Amino acid sequence: MEVIVLPTKEKVIKLAAAIIDKELRRNPRTVLGLASGRTMEALYAELVRMHKEEGLDFSLCHTFALDEYIGLSKNDVHSYHYYFQHHFLSHINIDQRNVHIPNGLAPNLEEECYRYEYEIKKLGGIDLQILGIGEDGHIGFNEPLSALLSRTRVKALAPATIAQNAPLFGSKDAVPKRAITMGVGTILESKRCILLATGKHKAKIIAKAVEGPITSMISATALQLHTHCSVIVDEEAGKMLENRDYYLWVFNNEPEWEPFRNILT
Ligand code: GLP
Repeated sequence: MEVIVLPTKEKVIKLAAAIIDKELRRNPRTVLGLASGRTMEALYAELVRMHKEEGLDFSLCHTFALDEYIGLSKNDVHSYHYYFQHHFLSHINIDQRNVHIPNGLAPNLEEECYRYEYEIKKLGGIDLQILGIGEDGHIGFNEPLSALLSRTRVKALAPATIAQNAPLFGSKDAVPKRAITMGVGTILESKRCILLATGKHKAKIIAKAVEGPITSMISATALQLHTHCSVIVDEEAGKMLENRDYYLWVFNNEPEWEPFRNILT
């Protein structure tokens, strides 16, 4: 795992977008894993800008959403189907047949989860998985005690997650109680993961996710097992990291990051 602490949220977004840009230019058929949430809105806005102004091409790529609420239709403004189209997919040149999001209205949810895993496998797995983090440490909707080897399945949302997402729905009661989510094991099979977090409300959980022991109580800690995972945070989200100076030293000295360091200056 690598940790990159950048001065501002804008730089976090810029670096993440630059990594995606590089990957898409290297392999136009990239299979991208997408996360929802407020943190990602700025990332999608930047990718849309890069598509419109710099010709970033999504025509051959595939996307897989991490999760979807159960019981919401695709047109419901609170569904992740709507979220991804609204913030990202309807503004770029992706082939809509290449867009994959779990169907939270499937008559047989278990079958839907198997189907989703199969679709990921059929395309050779996820090349680059973008992740946010919930305040309880979830990735996707892998709530506390999610098995570290879990696959796509139905999960009940934790009260903390319901509270965190309530402002988007108007009230806690309006938040669905369950979701389909890729499992921790599914996420760990991605070839590369990038986790983004910004703001002081994420500082405590980022410190636990990066420097704490691996535990199914905090599914983001499982990323410590991943062989190519970058955690990119702003100053506020990184402020409780004990080894911040070490992470900075690595970022400033690893040749892999050199072209990216220039973008950030
Ligand atoms: C939801 C998503 C997660 C995401 C989290 C973070 O819970 N299921 O995948 O990481 O939101 O949200 P935010 O960026 O709004 O803090």
